[in-house]
Order: sequence, then structure tokens, then C-alpha cells
Amino acid sequence: MKILGIETSCDETAAAVVEDGTTVHSSVVASQLATHAKYGGVVPELASREHLRAIVPVVRLALEEAGAGFEDLVAIAVTEGPGLVGSLLVGITYAKSLCLARDLPLIGVNHIEGHIHAVILQAGASIEYPALALVVSGGHTHLFEVREGFTYRLLGKTRDDAAGEAFDKVAKLLGFGYPGGPIIDQLAPHGDPHAVKFTLARMKGNTLDFSFSGLKTAVLRWVEQRDLTSEIEARRRSQATSAEDFLPLTPQPTLDLLASFQHTVIAELLRRAVRSIEEIGARSFIISGGVASNTGLRIAAREAGLACPVYFPTPALSTDNAAMIAAAAFPKLHAGHFDDFSLRAQANLALA
Ligand code: KG4
Ligand code: ZN
Repeated sequence: MKILGIETSCDETAAAVVEDGTTVHSSVVASQLATHAKYGGVVPELASREHLRAIVPVVRLALEEAGAGFEDLVAIAVTEGPGLVGSLLVGITYAKSLCLARDLPLIGVNHIEGHIHAVILQAGASIEYPALALVVSGGHTHLFEVREGFTYRLLGKTRDDAAGEAFDKVAKLLGFGYPGGPIIDQLAPHGDPHAVKFTLARMKGNTLDFSFSGLKTAVLRWVEQRDLTSEIEARRRSQATSAEDFLPLTPQPTLDLLASFQHTVIAELLRRAVRSIEEIGARSFIISGGVASNTGLRIAAREAGLACPVYFPTPALSTDNAAMIAAAAFPKLHAGHFDDFSLRAQANLALA
């Protein structure tokens, strides 16, 4: 049973064909990085325009690479939120038109549930429930309890910046461009993760919530206490994009800062995860979302001596893609949960 998935919630236009929620026949992702990089972040109006331009060829390519036609599909799944409304609307409107024209059922999928299914898609048979899911991306840092049958309970979330957003803001501040996660990931092993000690404020209320804005401010203070203007400007002007290009432009103290920043983010994520695993008696731990491709996080999670096995998606399925949307729709198809054409874009759609 093949489902066509469509994802346009942020700055990737993606389409994929997935069979039975497990076999990825194609997964096409058109990145808008080049468009947004010079602004240091995603510009919503530009994102919608780029989606409009890309959606038809991306869907066509996904079908072509899967060797499938519309007659081979059982449904079309589309991200309904959370995300940028103008971006979501492009995917939703196109999905609805295709369903109408080809007489196919429509299934709306929550983007966060999609990220969780990026892992289930690959490791579904091994995952035991209840599972703990940590979704860490540019927009989200959420901990969920996942029960059998895919019901979710929110355990904690960020009160301010998402973890990926913190990576992006620190990178932008230091002249490393956008997105910041991949470049910090590559440079961190060149620095000492214990060189800069960040003291984080104690949180009141739900202790499984996260906060990264204090860490971001601490990095800003560290920068302000030193004269880094020419170093940062040199990196900004360099148009470097890879770690290799940035290394000669980055003195050791800055490498140490990056390593310490990444180390602190990872420690914060895993500290709450360890407590959540204990609290819900988790039998599996799923980490997904763009930040899940972080090498340091992958190593730390595997070496943390967790009480249950940990599962990550492949890096290509960690960041936004449509295979995860098609996979998340499969259990809904089974349960007969379809949507009608009243399906709308929801910027703040919650999973639980
Ligand atoms: O899941 P995603 O593609 O989009 C959202 O739903 O937000 O995640 C993008 C985020 C960005 O903030 C990016 O900097 C971060 O994921 N990211 C990483 C890495 N690769 C992407 N953060 C840390 N290490 C990485 N290797
Ligand atoms: Zn995402």
C-alpha cells in the first residue's frame, strides 16, 4: 500500500512514496538553503514562493523515482502543522487538488509525529513501548511518551528557543552562517568541551521542560568580553560553508567555545531524557529531528548507559523530509482516519 507524502512546513519542499509505512521507494527534498542563507534564517514569504515553484516538479520526481503513478497510490498524506502557515498552505492545497483530481483519500499529518515516525519507519520492529521520544529540531524540543497504537503524552518542552534554534543563533552570532547545527557539529571535535563552563538557571515548575535562551545569552556575554569583531567579520566575508573552510579562520578559544556550547546542549537534552526514561519506564528511546543528526549527540546518547536502547533516524531522515509524513500516515490509513477538504494549515498544531 503506497502513500505519497508531501511536506512543506518550513524551508524544504519534499515528497516521498512509502509502502506499508516501512519501505521508502523515493524521498525527494528540495532545499531552500541557498535562498535563506544570506538572511541568516528562514524568510516566510520567500519560503512560500519557493514551495510554489518546487512543489509540482518535486512530487513528479518522487513518483518517477518510485516508478509509481497515481493509480498505484492508496492515499496522499500532507503535513498540516505545526509550521509556517504560508508554507503549509502550498502543500495542503496541492495535496487536496491531487486527491480531488485522482479520487484519492487525504490524510493530514502532524509534523512532530512525522519526525517520530522517521525512526519507526526504519526500526519499527525493534521498538518496544512505552517509548520516550525526544524531538529536537529548529522549531521543536519536545519529550513525549509514545504508547502502543501511537498515542502521545507531552512530558516536557522548551520554554523559549528550540535546541536547533540555539545552534543557529550561536552560529549566526559568531559569523558561521545558516544553518548553524551542521557546522558547529563539525567544528566541535576540534575544541575542548570543558573549556567554558556555562551555569544554567534552575527551572521552576515542570523540571522536564527545557530552556536554551540563557545559554545563548551566556555565549553572547562570552563574545562581548573579548574583541572578536575582526575574527567574526573575516568569517562572514569569507563565504566559507564547510568546516574545512572555517577551521583556518577560527582560533582555538572560539573552537573551545563551540565545543563547550554543544556539550552543554547535549548534556541538557540527555539529563531530561534519562529522568523521563525512568519516570515512564520507557523500553525504547527515540531521538529525531534535525538536531538528531548531531554526531556528538549520537555518541553521547549511546555512551550514556541508558536504561533502554536508543534509536536515531539516518541523517537524511533526521531533517525535514516527506518519507516520515507518508510513514506516519500509514497507521491512520489502517485505522480509517482520513481528512476531508476542510483540512487546514495550523501554525501551532500540538501533538499532545
Ligand atoms: O528538522 P529540521 O530539518 O527542521 C525543523 O523542523 O526545524 O531541523 C533543522 C534544525 C536547524 O536548526 C539545524 O541547525 C539543526 O536542525 N541541525 C543540526 C544538525 N543538522 C541540522 N543541529 C546540530 N547538529 C547537526 N548536525
Ligand atoms: Zn522538522
